[in-house]
Amino acid sequence: MSFTIIEQATPRLHRSELAVPGSKPHLFEKAARSAADAVFLDCEDAVAPDDKEQARRNIVAALNDIDWGRKTVMVRINGLDTHYMYRDVIDIVEACPRLDMILIPKVGVAADVYAVDMLVTQIETAKRRSKRIGFEALIETALGMTNVEAIAQSSKRLESMSFGIADFAASTRARTTSIGGVHPDSAVLSDPDANDQRQVFWTDPWHSAQARMLVACRAYGLRPVDGPFGNFTDPDGFVSAARRAAVLGYEGKWVIHPSQIELANRVYTPSDAEVTQARRILEAMAQARQQGLGAVSLDGRLIDTVNIRMAESLIAKADTIALAPSPAGRAVG
Ligand code: GLV
Ligand code: MG
Repeated sequence: MSFTIIEQATPRLHRSELAVPGSKPHLFEKAARSAADAVFLDCEDAVAPDDKEQARRNIVAALNDIDWGRKTVMVRINGLDTHYMYRDVIDIVEACPRLDMILIPKVGVAADVYAVDMLVTQIETAKRRSKRIGFEALIETALGMTNVEAIAQSSKRLESMSFGIADFAASTRARTTSIGGVHPDSAVLSDPDANDQRQVFWTDPWHSAQARMLVACRAYGLRPVDGPFGNFTDPDGFVSAARRAAVLGYEGKWVIHPSQIELANRVYTPSDAEVTQARRILEAMAQARQQGLGAVSLDGRLIDTVNIRMAESLIAKADTIALAPSPAGRAVG
């Protein structure tokens, strides 16, 4: 290991992050009672310009009047390039002790996070807030991705980053209009086989960006969260996208529809089979150590010390999830 020890962000269960427009207050109670680990009430892109002020008022009321249980409650503020953002922060942070985290959209440079930190710090001090607000940075522009390592180190409040795949596609001028889906042009063609047949293998156009953000998060102790999958009538597509991110090391995924919540929670919870295999690896390595061996074979595969770290990390994740209290709020009405 490096001599540099990186502090890990405040741990939270973050398998599903439910997006709820601030302009749709009729959805708030349902969101609070849902099985989502985290909910963000949106002031930004899901809210039309004419509704921005009312949405902010709705959010203040919801944070004070609704029982959110043990959920992580977040607010997505407007971008730093708008004139809405300062009031989002002031009105909501001043009036809402329940708020856990602020989701900062379209973060481009580390100073964007610094600016919000400065404002939030002043409000927390002035209002003697006892709970410190955490941040999630939404990485969804080419500039943000270019500066992702610096952004990851920009504030002690930063706990997580999410990959905003839709805006990222727009920012990089990707030739797609689907949110988080794959594309038939993103494919490789095999060489002709003996029968002159060729096969098309679809590839994941988001892989390199996702991997880059993931590494920045893990390097600096943050939770990586995958972004939205727009077609909520395609649960298989959602699960496939969620699994691709989970296998890279993502902690969870945005959900834009209640039907995606259970899917995300399931994908981002290690399966019994994975946990059993991890425990077998630890047992095999414990026996190997007793025999003075550094490596041993299990099911025909070589395992050594690195497998202990991988197995321990998987078991730790499963234990955290098993021990976590239900994030759902009290049933209302
Ligand atoms: C989320 O905001 C996205 O752009 O994907
Ligand atoms: Mg976006």
